[in-house]
Amino acid sequence: MGHGVLVTGATGTVGRHLVGRLLAHGVRVRALCRDPERAAALLPDGVEIARGDLTDSTALESALRGVDAAFVLLADDAGQAFARAAHHTAGLHQLVALSADAPQGPGFDNPLFVKHVQGEARLRATALPLTVLRPGPFASLALQWAPALAAGDVVGAVHPDLAVPVIDPRDIADVAAAVLLGPAPSGVRILPLSGPQALDVHARVRVLGEVLDRRLKVARIAEQQWVRLATERLPETYARQLMDVERYLIERQLPVVASVREITGSAPRSFRTWAQDHMAAFSAPDRAPSFEEAS
Ligand SMILES: NC(=O)c1ccc[n+]([C@@H]2O[C@H](COP(=O)([O-])OP(=O)(O)OC[C@H]3O[C@@H](n4cnc5c(N)ncnc54)[C@H](OP(=O)(O)O)[C@@H]3O)[C@@H](O)[C@H]2O)c1
Repeated sequence: MGHGVLVTGATGTVGRHLVGRLLAHGVRVRALCRDPERAAALLPDGVEIARGDLTDSTALESALRGVDAAFVLLADDAGQAFARAAHHTAGLHQLVALSADAPQGPGFDNPLFVKHVQGEARLRATALPLTVLRPGPFASLALQWAPALAAGDVVGAVHPDLAVPVIDPRDIADVAAAVLLGPAPSGVRILPLSGPQALDVHARVRVLGEVLDRRLKVARIAEQQWVRLATERLPETYARQLMDVERYLIERQLPVVASVREITGSAPRSFRTWAQDHMAAFSAPDRAPSFEEAS
């Protein structure tokens, strides 16, 4: 079998772009999917589909057979099943992991932090060449504003002044593709990734309004209200964990870093570019209440 890559999360925010990049370079792509029928409808022709869950090491072992690299998403088991499967798979030459900037130690028991810290450690322990991508918040998080913007002109935010260098998921896919298409690295490489500029919610909503040609506003809302609204689409525990991540990001002040340009040779896409390419997502009618209506 020739060069082949197992892409986990292939139907997801980063994975779907990575699949396209790899196919375009003639790489054999196998996608690990929990729902093969749904995945087949979403993924381009030419992708092999392997049924499996990221927490099932037996399914992973079989999905890894015959590929020489893998793009690894960390699931709730923090890479445990993947690491076990990788130990039992001959022929794997490198892993590229989608992780995040996460704190560790006392007081940082948020599962969203723990899965990244433990997941990275487990993948390191496989002793395979490993590239860890640590992007900041995705530009696509703005999609969570779509229901409010279908119902009105106001985005509700708990921390509207929190500035983060949001990254376009396509840039993360470009970095992953460049690493997977390049020579297999040795050892472990950690790559913090960022967009070109730190933008708070006011700035991102202003850009989105300009792109959509609408006068949009931001309202500061209480955490309790945000959690109540978020639970229309997320489990409450997860919504609370996300607020905890925002508090961490306020302290952390993620820097803008040069790694996207260094690895891909191109500047990272701006939030304006992301917004221009996703305008359609903000025009679909939606019956969800706006933050004002729900208050
Ligand atoms: N969102 C951010 O701002 C952000 C920031 C920094 C880092 N990250 C990292 O990026 C990752 C992906 O981010 P996202 O929030 O945009 O998610 P996403 O890519 O939409 O994640 C869902 C994808 O993962 C697959 N998946 C999830 N659980 C799985 C499981 N147990 N077994 C097999 N496949 C599974 C889904 O497959 P199905 O088609 O089967 O559902 C889907 O393809 C996060 O987990 C995090 O590690 C995210």
